[in-house]
Amino acid sequence: MSFMELATNRYSERYFDPRPVEQEKIDAILAVGRTAPTACNYQPQRIYVMQSEEALKKVRSIRVSHFNAPLMMLVCYDIETAWRNPGDRWYQNYCSGEQDATIVAATMMYEAEELGVHSVWLRGFDSQQVAEVFNLPKNHIPVMMFAMGYPSDKTKPSPWHFQRKLLEETVTML
Ligand SMILES: Cc1cc2nc3c(=O)[nH]c(=O)nc-3n(C[C@H](O)[C@H](O)[C@H](O)COP(=O)(O)O)c2cc1C
Repeated sequence: MSFMELATNRYSERYFDPRPVEQEKIDAILAVGRTAPTACNYQPQRIYVMQSEEALKKVRSIRVSHFNAPLMMLVCYDIETAWRNPGDRWYQNYCSGEQDATIVAATMMYEAEELGVHSVWLRGFDSQQVAEVFNLPKNHIPVMMFAMGYPSDKTKPSPWHFQRKLLEETVTML
């Protein structure tokens, strides 16, 4: 399958089968995430994998749409490790951590898809609540979460999936 086909076929999964994701697949997803570029190659991403009953119970106790996925991942960045740009006059001392974590997450999302593991990207949570429930170190800043797993027989893309803007609306040729 070409990357274009993989990317076009992907949609946010909100109907998960309870079947656990095999450890080899989780390892492969994490290994491909590791290949992602990061600013100055500082690799500030910090990833928490939740598959144990205990971890899933904790994540399901907070306000987040987890869709009863059998696997969740929380992608953070270490604010003490991420590259900073003191030369940016717009964002003072700009920190690349969110971009670094995001490209790692996107890379993992497509690897998961290639392995038949569906996912939905989640940002509708309170970072403070996540930090508290998982007792995160102060320097680990939550960026996003994935609900991941195999699709159930109810799987279907949401109507949003089909609403893509025209390139003319989002691209400017200079
Ligand atoms: C930054 C970001 C935040 C998102 N947060 C949520 C979320 O909290 N809950 C949810 O169900 N989907 C969330 N999504 C998924 C989007 O709703 C979805 O990607 C979009 O509607 C397009 O649909 P598709 O992924 O099926 O193509 C998020 C996606 C992104 C990129």
